Amino acid sequence: MSNNDLETIKQNVPDAWIPSLDSFIVKGSNAEIWDKDNNRYLDYVGGYAVLNTGHLNPRVVKNVEDQLKNYSHSCFAFAPHENAVKVAEQINKRYPIEEHTKTFLVNSGAEAIENATKIARYHTKRKNIIAFKGGFHGRTYLAMGLTGKDNPYKNGFGPFPEFIHHAEYPYAYRDVTDEMAIDSVNNILKNKVDIDDTAAFVVEIQLGEGGYIPSSVDFLEELKSIAIKNDILLIFDEVQTGFGRTGEMFGANTVGVTPDIATAAKGIAGGFPLAAVVGKSEIMDSIHEAGIGSTFGASPISCAAALGVLEVFDKDDLLNHTKKQATTMNESLNLLMNESPFIGDVRGYGTMLGVEIVEDQDSKKPGKEIALKIIDNCKNNGLLLVNCGLEGNVIRFMGPLTTPLDQVEEALDIFNKSVINI
Ligand SMILES: Cc1ncc(COP(=O)(O)O)c(C=O)c1O
Repeated sequence: MSNNDLETIKQNVPDAWIPSLDSFIVKGSNAEIWDKDNNRYLDYVGGYAVLNTGHLNPRVVKNVEDQLKNYSHSCFAFAPHENAVKVAEQINKRYPIEEHTKTFLVNSGAEAIENATKIARYHTKRKNIIAFKGGFHGRTYLAMGLTGKDNPYKNGFGPFPEFIHHAEYPYAYRDVTDEMAIDSVNNILKNKVDIDDTAAFVVEIQLGEGGYIPSSVDFLEELKSIAIKNDILLIFDEVQTGFGRTGEMFGANTVGVTPDIATAAKGIAGGFPLAAVVGKSEIMDSIHEAGIGSTFGASPISCAAALGVLEVFDKDDLLNHTKKQATTMNESLNLLMNESPFIGDVRGYGTMLGVEIVEDQDSKKPGKEIALKIIDNCKNNGLLLVNCGLEGNVIRFMGPLTTPLDQVEEALDIFNKSVINI
């Protein structure tokens, strides 16, 4: 980036919002992007796990162009449009909750989780919410309150909404077992809250910002059974795990455990702002008239894009391609773990893979500086990646699910070389 460009950014946006990539992007095509200096990158950041169907997927573009010939906005609560109902219908059909479900559409992940929690409190008439350490749910106040990662999301921004408690999330590599996590939930229910005044558990099937840590099926089943026993609702935050990321349409399909309410966002509309709350109809219908809503939620353009995304899943057999990618990525990253002392763990569902970087495999000391150096090496060789985790030492792969297999291999090759040559 030229000094002028950087200066313009610094003059106009808050310091806390200065981008990581030091170059304006000018063009994207599926898994590739180009910057102003014509550098080409494989985009394994994917707009932060948003571009599941890639940059400018033709099916998404066509639907958006068609919609733009008709109208650009209607507030759904006043003037309904078909695109929104079709998206809701498709999510109801695809989300694996057995009971009849209904879907409410909003703009962002944070807005979805806010609404899921609002609906759970309203329906149960209870106030306590139990979320998890390491969880990330967004930047609005309730979402920050639910978030279990202080730096950089919460530090200095308090006070946060009351009646939110954080339990341990299972983390096998760091010896937090499923049993310890469940004990921690039970401890909160026994000692910190009135169990009969507890509305919901809010949990990610795999931590995203918290370090790409998958929870086990056993843990989720046990959590669900505690929820059922105590009339507590189970909310899955599938903002990051949804839309093919875990190898199936939703994380719930992958783990075979279903919640009462789930959120989705990120990959839902190919880069257009849209998010969803899907839940059992009995719960969703308990809210009084106009008790939930959103001016821009269910934008007809975003919904047209979302219908394009669903077409990619159906007509291009995207889940099958995703599974092939996940196998290739797992094989390569696990081989690399045998070769490099800096890789402590390779984990995750589907292509939602995280590589935990350590100073050495015996001490397991988090290696944030090494991770940042690897990321920098990758960038210099044409592969974009970012880190995550409480210690910032996990490198995560968030590339499009539509990435051709030769580009998946190219990305893995760059990653391997960047790790080996560190
Ligand atoms: C699991 C999860 N929930 C919620 C959010 C917040 O989504 P948004 O940034 O669209 O508000 C994110 C964003 O990364 C997320 O990963």
